[in-house]
Amino acid sequence: MPNDKKRRFIVLSNRLPIAVGRGPDGELTASQGAGGLVTALAPVLGNRGGAWIGWPGTSEKGVTALCRNFSRQAGYFLRPVSLTEAEVEGFYRGFSNEILWPLFHEFQMPCNFLPAYWEAYRTANATFAKAAAAAATDDDLVWVHDYHLMLVARLLKAKGRSPRLGFFLHIPFPPADIFLKIPWRRELVDALLDFDLIGFQTLRDRRNFFDVVKRLHPSAMRKGRGEIVTLTLAGETTRLGVFPISIDFAAFADRARDPGVRQTAKDIRQAFDNRFLLFGADRLDYTKGVPQRLDALQTALTSYPELRGKVCLIQVLVPSREEVPQYRAMKEDIERMVGEINGRWSRPGWAPVHFVYRNLPHDELIAYYAASDMALVTPLRDGMNLVAKEYAACNVAETGILCLSEFAGAAMELHRHAVMVNPFDVVGVAEAIRDGAAMAPGQRRRRMRAIRAIIRRHDIFQWVDAFLDAAFSTHLGDFPRQSAGAWADPEADPEAGQGPPWDTPDRVA
Ligand code: G6P
Repeated sequence: MPNDKKRRFIVLSNRLPIAVGRGPDGELTASQGAGGLVTALAPVLGNRGGAWIGWPGTSEKGVTALCRNFSRQAGYFLRPVSLTEAEVEGFYRGFSNEILWPLFHEFQMPCNFLPAYWEAYRTANATFAKAAAAAATDDDLVWVHDYHLMLVARLLKAKGRSPRLGFFLHIPFPPADIFLKIPWRRELVDALLDFDLIGFQTLRDRRNFFDVVKRLHPSAMRKGRGEIVTLTLAGETTRLGVFPISIDFAAFADRARDPGVRQTAKDIRQAFDNRFLLFGADRLDYTKGVPQRLDALQTALTSYPELRGKVCLIQVLVPSREEVPQYRAMKEDIERMVGEINGRWSRPGWAPVHFVYRNLPHDELIAYYAASDMALVTPLRDGMNLVAKEYAACNVAETGILCLSEFAGAAMELHRHAVMVNPFDVVGVAEAIRDGAAMAPGQRRRRMRAIRAIIRRHDIFQWVDAFLDAAFSTHLGDFPRQSAGAWADPEADPEAGQGPPWDTPDRVA
């Protein structure tokens, strides 16, 4: 067995961390994805040696060669998994996006429990497990990401393979009464328990998972408190950890200090006549609560005449899952609402909503973050929500206000200093907008400084370290009850009984 620091490292995620596009002559091109995960994992993969296994998002010829070339540049191997169109339909669009995505976010209506979707999910997970078996030895660590790939540990073990196995769920884990509706609930949970370590974003997600395990297996026992606990069932032990994901704080803050970006931020403020700028940036998704946010703005303008002509909402919507009819319909609804609000309130030189439907270049997004007075991060349910953290990191002047949904995972760390709202309560969000526009500079600064301090301490690199430490360590005793990892705000440790109402203490079995 190699020294743990020397174990090679294999990452699996549904998507490879590259953006595949076309060059000027129609040739396939690849560029590194912009996400925080790849920023944090690429150096670890480069140092330890390893591979990232995932679906390139296309089945076009030439992708394998493209990945091979890109591997040289990236310093680690990219191993594309190819899926047939039928597999993409059943596994990705079907089981992942029509069952797991809505249900895990506590939306039950759009679920479509087709047995064919489950078959496709199993087949696709087997394809990923096969690729992992080919890339990993039993001395390696295999780290699987997200809800698309929950069966991989079980399938690897069925092949007689036993590398160290870690899993991180980026989205929420739902309450038992919702999860237990899935016809294949037992298969999913038992397969998850084959991982050595399962990481969740928040205490609540882990508690929900434990409740589900208890309902399915009343003899399951939990031991320990704090970031890492163990769950024992039929003599087998799985570690359950809480690791709130983060961002590369320093990189965002550095870009926000760049003279070019600062100038763009200044230009934005000027273009909006230095009004009170509200900012929203979301992937187009029904979990993000954009229609409710627009309703809240409408309510604010109706109820508080002093805001008319004074506030502007800049709403960036990043296109996503466009082939799904529900997502297309949602875009049309949002456009209609924007049209109605602007139609009702605009006057010469002022329109309340400035709507952007495209992927903004990185620096432009940062300039918007830096230029805005208040970010409206109001998802109806979200695993973490990194926009909240990016907004704060870019707020180097420390004067921005973060208005945050109670139902974003980020609430666990930031609820003490953000303006907390229930996104379903449009009157409450309207009041938050009114109060934000009137907030004294001193209070703005105190709050934003505290938020930034939390994220600076708990950045994406600390997140990777915390997960890897937990995955490699052989003794639960290696973890102090209150280690540096999960509770960014030590006072907010819900297990100390001071937590927010939406993150009450774990019950000990
Ligand atoms: C969420 C999920 C990711 C997913 C991303 C984009 O953040 O946690 O796993 O990749 O959405 O969705 P897409 O379906 O385009 O991969």
